[in-house]
Amino acid sequence: MLFGWFLRSLYCQLPAIHLIQFFYKSLSFLGFSFRILQMASSTLICDTEPWKDLKNHVQEIKKTHLRDLMSDTDRCQSMMVEFDGILLDYSRQNATLKTMDKLYQLAEAAQLNNKINRMYNGEKINSTENRSVLHVALRAPRDAAINSDGKNVVPEVWKVLDKIKEFSETIRSGSWVGATGKVLKDVVAVGIGGSFLGPLFVHTALQTDLEAIECARGRQLRFLANVDPIDVAKSITGLNPETTLVVVVSKTFTTAETMLNARTLREWISTALGPSAVAKHMVAVSTNLTLVEKFGIDPNNAFAFWDWVGGRYSVCSAVGVLPLSLQYGFSVVEKFLKGAWSIDQHFISAPYEKNIPVLLGLLSIWNVSFLGHPARAILPYSQALEKFAPHIQQVSMESNGKGVSIDGVPLPFEAGEIDFGEPGTNGQHSFYQLIHQGRVIPCDFIGVVKSQQPVYLKGEVVSNHDELMSNFFAQPDALAVGKTPEQLQKENVAPHLIPHKTFSGNRPSLSLLLPSLNAYNIGQLLAIYEHRIAVEGFIWGINSFDQWGVELGKSLATQVRKQLHASRMKREPIEGFNFSTTTLLTRYLEASSD
Ligand code: F6P
Repeated sequence: MLFGWFLRSLYCQLPAIHLIQFFYKSLSFLGFSFRILQMASSTLICDTEPWKDLKNHVQEIKKTHLRDLMSDTDRCQSMMVEFDGILLDYSRQNATLKTMDKLYQLAEAAQLNNKINRMYNGEKINSTENRSVLHVALRAPRDAAINSDGKNVVPEVWKVLDKIKEFSETIRSGSWVGATGKVLKDVVAVGIGGSFLGPLFVHTALQTDLEAIECARGRQLRFLANVDPIDVAKSITGLNPETTLVVVVSKTFTTAETMLNARTLREWISTALGPSAVAKHMVAVSTNLTLVEKFGIDPNNAFAFWDWVGGRYSVCSAVGVLPLSLQYGFSVVEKFLKGAWSIDQHFISAPYEKNIPVLLGLLSIWNVSFLGHPARAILPYSQALEKFAPHIQQVSMESNGKGVSIDGVPLPFEAGEIDFGEPGTNGQHSFYQLIHQGRVIPCDFIGVVKSQQPVYLKGEVVSNHDELMSNFFAQPDALAVGKTPEQLQKENVAPHLIPHKTFSGNRPSLSLLLPSLNAYNIGQLLAIYEHRIAVEGFIWGINSFDQWGVELGKSLATQVRKQLHASRMKREPIEGFNFSTTTLLTRYLEASSD
């Protein structure tokens, strides 16, 4: 076809426009052919020998029971890894040392080390967006060198960190005051998704740390994420615009929810204090400084980050560092960055068998792709970590919920995992029944040695924290070992109740024990999970750093928004939707116009 077109063009004496078109068509054709060739030649991980070997190994593992595996002390000892105060115990996984060797071979086949190095070297591993993935640079010390596009990005990172330090000190000390001369003691951070969940997790965790409490005395940090007007009301109820600073956090500065919420709070401020007050009461965090200025925020009061920081990996950029520094002071937040950096160093340098994020990632792959357990429960025995699971849910599910390989080849296996969780012991009184006797859900138990706020009641056998941790230690064994009908018989349990009271056991979990929950350890925990998720994506051979799956819903919402406007303002009929949506929209419009 192309050749025919070429001949026809020649026949027409090749006018210049045809030449350009021909050149363009040839290039697209070559590009398309290259793509097909690339797709055809790309090897999926499931076609490699280590993957097939692990598939065969499943039968062998299915014959074992954790009750027996747990009695092998040497095995258990080999499945404990310690780094910088954190202890990982993965002896309650349905895995032997042989399984682990096979998983290391899988990592080799996936070129895991090479992929980690490429990430740290600033290569554009987010190929569908042509971007580097350098959240590690956000916590690098001043003297480190990490390149993107041949340029060391660490000085730029520190330029913004220094600006945040200075700005937050000005606000906290009261040298920057609001339009009416009052100290800005309250902050509302407006943002959604990655521009919200990470900062919320860290804030919730620091909020009960005694050192952080001292630094935050007299100050409040709130978040506004949902476009639901109720969230707006909740975020400003009881706040005085005169003493409030609004931080608009959006990587793109185009996210519909965030922009509407930002306009709503701009209105709140200008109605109360006059339009000129916005300059004193609103600042921004974004990669899009042009749109920040268009919105009416002085670019001097904007804190930049870069397109090599993915939204869900942005808590260590100004996205998290600014609101958290305003609340706790920069020095507390710096400790959080140092904790994350400690794990970054461990991740890039430790061998697979000693590398906590690599081990966690490989075990997830084992559970999801080989043992067929698609979900994972994240169970911190720490109320301060109540927002950890929601944050990891986004990092993991937005990163790894993909259906094609990084080369665009449909995956013949399911990637990604379903993450959910609640702090213990609350979860025990909610969904643990299913975990113990219903579906098999691998669990991450996260415990802390020293409570942020210990309580010792006179006359009690153990402290309140010991009580909490008793459950942290007991639950993994209940899942792994279970309880047999024979044991129940010996306990004289009524025969008809024996099936109901039997626990099959053999349910996998792992335990992470942190020394305490200060800013540094919170940073470590964050980085462990960020890297674990990257490991999973690297092994599955997907792009963990794009998120095209969120686009379709957004564009359909735009269509609905236009329709709602047209129907309400111009009485235009509902058009272009299927029967179901038309019916629902009609009901909504009729009922809400009463
Ligand atoms: O939900 C999709 C998403 O793009 C996330 O990846 C991102 O964190 C969030 O929206 C918010 O985006 P932004 O920071 O650009 O407002």
